[in-house]
Amino acid sequence: MIPSPRSTILLFIATQILSFAPQATASPSYQDSERDHVISAPVERTEVLGSATGLRKRADTAYTNPADNGGYMLTIVNGTYPAGLGEPLNVILSAESDALVLKQSVDNGGFLNYMLTAGLGEECLGQHLGSDQSANLGDGKGNVTEVEELRYNYGDPYIGTCQETFQGGLHLRYWIQNNTGAYFMAVSVEKSLTEGHDIVRDGYNIGRDQLVANLTGKAVETRNITNQTTFSGSGSYKNYTYQTDVKYVSGLLKNSSDDINHFYTVEQNGYPAIDGLVAVLTVKITDKPKSSSALTTLARMPVVALIGPLLIASVVALF
Ligand SMILES: *[C@@H]1O[C@H](CO)[C@@H](O)[C@H](O)[C@H]1NC(C)=O
Ligand SMILES: *[C@@H]1O[C@H](CO)[C@@H](O)[C@H](O)[C@H]1NC(C)=O
Ligand SMILES: *[C@@H]1O[C@H](CO)[C@@H](O)[C@H](O)[C@H]1NC(C)=O
Ligand SMILES: *[C@@H]1O[C@H](CO)[C@@H](O)[C@H](O)[C@H]1NC(C)=O
Ligand SMILES: *[C@@H]1O[C@H](CO)[C@@H](O)[C@H](O)[C@H]1NC(C)=O
Ligand SMILES: *[C@@H]1O[C@H](CO)[C@@H](O)[C@H](O)[C@H]1NC(C)=O
Ligand SMILES: *[C@@H]1O[C@H](CO)[C@@H](O)[C@H](O)[C@H]1NC(C)=O
Ligand SMILES: *[C@@H]1O[C@H](CO)[C@@H](O)[C@H](O)[C@H]1NC(C)=O
Repeated sequence: MIPSPRSTILLFIATQILSFAPQATASPSYQDSERDHVISAPVERTEVLGSATGLRKRADTAYTNPADNGGYMLTIVNGTYPAGLGEPLNVILSAESDALVLKQSVDNGGFLNYMLTAGLGEECLGQHLGSDQSANLGDGKGNVTEVEELRYNYGDPYIGTCQETFQGGLHLRYWIQNNTGAYFMAVSVEKSLTEGHDIVRDGYNIGRDQLVANLTGKAVETRNITNQTTFSGSGSYKNYTYQTDVKYVSGLLKNSSDDINHFYTVEQNGYPAIDGLVAVLTVKITDKPKSSSALTTLARMPVVALIGPLLIASVVALF
């Protein structure tokens, strides 16, 4: 592949950062609050998994429907026209997944490491360049701002998400359902920054299915998906191997354009903006590194946080 001027610029920035950055050292995972006791329901199957912190259990509730308790399967977006449009929460990481995957951590095979098997990483140099959305998952927490946004890294786990920020592509926002520990994700394929990060045609369905395809290694044909469709497959990152079982579920979202943000430019060939199917992922860790002392990612380093804004400013100037 011939490097584009953009990738050359990004490569240059990467080498600059690497020359700045101190050696990565092992550190405790961030925001790594214990929530195993929360996802353990009173009556449960017990599954013992070896881990640094001892025995782990799996929850027996995959997720609950937000609408059952005052919530919504659409996100809450400020300033839509008409008002009140939202984006579909079209992928759920079931709380019946292995407890390690349900931890919001890059270390020990956590959620952020799992997402990297699909090439989705935290934002460009730790800088948030998108508008926030909220969601109400019917878990008693009310309207809650997204935990964060993850962007496709185009094969480069260090600064690839910068390219997504500018060029567009696969991205997601996620929330964690407090009563179950399930992750709810609003996944879509977006246009470039200069096009206002609008959603491409059929971009919600396609985003969901690209994520599923990348996590399972299976070819997913969006228009063929029904509520009977399942996929299984695996992917690895940092020597953690994840087996993902996917089930497409109807009844949570409508097969409709009603209340969908950007519906007019997302509808395609007479199909509504979303097909109403949610991909529910149940994940097992089937292999892990011999010694799991994971390194902190570059993006976590204070030096990057400091010089990040400067670099963003220079990249914006260049594009
Ligand atoms: C949306 O707007 C309201 C009122 O202006 C504000 O309180 C809230 O923080 C905004 N939400 C997000 C996610 O930006
Ligand atoms: C939560 O969001 C919904 C949907 O936008 C809105 O109707 C409601 O007023 C919000 N609740 C609070 C407490 O802001
Ligand atoms: C639920 O919320 C509490 C309090 O905010 C928090 O400590 C706990 O970790 C949350 N549990 C989950 C599963 O997110
Ligand atoms: C994985 O995601 C990327 C980014 O959206 C996409 O270009 C690629 O086609 C996906 N892979 C598969 C197998 O769908
Ligand atoms: C999608 O459905 C069409 C028509 O049934 C079929 O010809 C095609 O092989 C299917 N594609 C995949 C990837 O399953
Ligand atoms: C699948 O969708 C059809 C409508 O397209 C509906 O009648 C059926 O009940 C659904 N099945 C399940 C298992 O949700
Ligand atoms: C959604 O509705 C369209 C018609 O508007 C139909 O062709 C399509 O099969 C439906 N999709 C699903 C997944 O039910
Ligand atoms: C991953 O496994 C390979 C060989 O299977 C080994 O060379 C490498 O050091 C391992 N990496 C980690 C981070 O454990």
